[in-house]
Amino acid sequence: MTRIELRGLSKGFREANGTPHTLFQNTNFEADENDASIAVLGRSGSGKSTLLKILAGLDTHYMGEFRFNEEILQHKESRMAAFRKANVGVITQRYDLLPERTALQNVMLGLGGNKNAFRDPAADALGHVGLSKYENHRVGRLSGGEAQRVAIARAIVKSPAILIADEPTGALDEQTENEVLDLFDILRARGSLLVIATHSERVAQRCARQVVITGKKVVGV
Ligand SMILES: Nc1ncnc2c1ncn2[C@@H]1O[C@H](COP(=O)(O)OP(=O)(O)OP(=O)(O)O)[C@@H](O)[C@H]1O
Ligand SMILES: [Mg+2]
Repeated sequence: MTRIELRGLSKGFREANGTPHTLFQNTNFEADENDASIAVLGRSGSGKSTLLKILAGLDTHYMGEFRFNEEILQHKESRMAAFRKANVGVITQRYDLLPERTALQNVMLGLGGNKNAFRDPAADALGHVGLSKYENHRVGRLSGGEAQRVAIARAIVKSPAILIADEPTGALDEQTENEVLDLFDILRARGSLLVIATHSERVAQRCARQVVITGKKVVGV
């Protein structure tokens, strides 16, 4: 079973001038492996990245309940860390790669670090995104699209139960985007749950379900 759920989510920020800015007001979101893939849509600034960080367990500053397989997690830092480690692969909008390390070293981090046993699976994951020949290149020297694919490889290397992907193909041309979407289909077929924030109509169409953030709520499309 893989089931994630947000109940009664409320969250906001204070703007630089002190004005409160509400992003989510008492909204709900739920997904399980039967959903296979969910596109999260919404205007720039609507809260897509914020929602994905909450679902990935990377942001716990909100009101409401976050449940994974019925367990309430957001107030238990060690359980949340275990949840992330065991179940979640994340592709953040800004990739969050280590530019001084090689592509292979960055992907090995997706498995926990610099262990010899992680080399082969990391190399396989780089192969899946078409970057075998860049294994030993420093990420800081790669193009934007190549770096994005390193981030994808790092997220998929452990075949996560939940893949959280924030604009995962934003830097890619159409053909490379299709290759990445085919790869995501393979993950889906193996039972992963995918949550993908996107502005791309093509990416959204390939997802089984679409939700949109509007009026401070997450609603079905
Ligand atoms: N840590 C923070 N502190 C203050 N404001 C923040 C913080 N993180 C996000 N915000 C604000 O919350 C709003 C939503 O941000 P978010 O990154 O979730 O939007 P988004 O839907 O992903 O946008 P985009 O499509 O441009 O990526 C923005 O107005 C942003 O400035
Ligand atoms: Mg965003």
